Amino acid sequence: MIQKLPFSHRGIEGDIQRLEALLKSVFSAAQLELTGKISVLNLACGRADETGALAAALAPAKIGFYLGVDLRADTIAEARERWHLPDGEIEFREGNAARIGRIESIPEFDLVFIRHQNYWHEPLVWEGILLEALAALKSSGYLVCTSYFDVEHEFLVASLREKGANVLANLRHPQSRPLPDEKGKSVDRYIAVFSAIHA
Ligand SMILES: C[S@@+](CC[C@H](N)C(=O)[O-])C[C@H]1O[C@@H](n2cnc3c(N)ncnc32)[C@H](O)[C@@H]1O
Repeated sequence: MIQKLPFSHRGIEGDIQRLEALLKSVFSAAQLELTGKISVLNLACGRADETGALAAALAPAKIGFYLGVDLRADTIAEARERWHLPDGEIEFREGNAARIGRIESIPEFDLVFIRHQNYWHEPLVWEGILLEALAALKSSGYLVCTSYFDVEHEFLVASLREKGANVLANLRHPQSRPLPDEKGKSVDRYIAVFSAIHA
């Protein structure tokens, strides 16, 4: 994965380095079994700052197809300018992650990633996004989510358990950077890996 543009805000570089280490820890704890060329879907990806960290943490598996989806056109445009995948296909689409199943001719994914989910603020929307995330996975696939808040993470885990997903690993980030805008909020505060729920 090649990063063509620097990150657009102070502090992101460090957050992303710490996220890469966190991803490696949680993938190891979950005993992730991914090899060869894999497909990755990043839902509600925003600027998709996490793209390079995700690719590095998944090695030696290589991303062959990467799709990022977000409602916001400005963040999708920025993500497109930043990331390049020389040995595969990379695409960023403006769209509703709660309706991802309507996109034609996309494969089932080995891994779906959702960073800083927002369940707390819009539970109905996020119920839809989580259902789509699980439906987009191969039977051998994984859903990986991070959260800003303790309670929001608990809501996410409870919702996915209710839908039949198994929690393979669930970690509190030991070096999560506190954010000043809300009490108890920090970058990638929690991360969890879930298995797919196909029969
Ligand atoms: C907290 S931000 C996280 C962005 C990015 N994943 C990150 O961690 O930097 C939540 C994102 O969800 C997106 N979002 C909210 N509802 C959405 C939906 N229904 N479909 C796609 N994106 C959505 C917002 O536009 C926003 O970019």
